[in-house]
Amino acid sequence: MTSEKLIITADQLEFRSISADMDCSGFDCDDEDLNSFLRDDAFQYQEQKIAQTTCLFFKGRLVAYFAVCNDSIRLSEDEKAKFPENKQIPSYPAVKLARMACVKEHQRCGLGKIIIEIVIGMAVAINKNGVACRYVTVDAYRAKESWYEKRGFIRNQARASSGPTVSMRKDIFS
Ligand SMILES: CC(C)(COP(=O)(O)OP(=O)(O)OC[C@H]1O[C@@H](n2cnc3c(N)ncnc32)[C@H](O)[C@@H]1OP(=O)(O)O)[C@@H](O)C(=O)NCCC(=O)NCCS
Repeated sequence: MTSEKLIITADQLEFRSISADMDCSGFDCDDEDLNSFLRDDAFQYQEQKIAQTTCLFFKGRLVAYFAVCNDSIRLSEDEKAKFPENKQIPSYPAVKLARMACVKEHQRCGLGKIIIEIVIGMAVAINKNGVACRYVTVDAYRAKESWYEKRGFIRNQARASSGPTVSMRKDIFS
């Protein structure tokens, strides 16, 4: 018997901002840092206006979350070349995907892709609301770099990354 791969679509999901009464204790994405952020820190980050966390529910179950905040980034000379010379400024406005994780059982079901589309939509909406934003950024786990590359993110060329993460960015208007 062959098992069909489950693909979850955005219309099957319920999106809720993290709240004090949300039970996140059972969330397990196989990464303790990302589990504990949701369980122990995300609500406080939201209260302190450091990062806003949105939780995704599928059939009533918490299956994924992502946290976003504002960012600004330096570009390499190559990246800056697309802007007219008089529009080359020290740093460019961005939205940062600060955390993202899906529960083990629902990884590779399309949730990550949905989250990236939502965050890009948020960055586009910021412009419509009167504040400029050009990039989406992420500090990606090295093992996930190619996952973000598939979604149009490139490595930060202005600064070499060290440690467990790679600084990446996507130009949402390129
Ligand atoms: C990383 C993560 C958010 C991706 O979300 P996801 O819902 O599993 O991914 P999606 O189902 O949207 O995407 C699946 C696609 O990515 C590909 N993929 C999965 N892991 C990959 C990897 N490490 N490198 C490259 N591609 C990868 C799949 O082959 C599939 O490709 P296709 O669209 O061409 O078929 C999720 O796996 C996760 O929560 N992992 C644990 C926590 C984590 O690492 N968070 C990211 C921190 S930077």
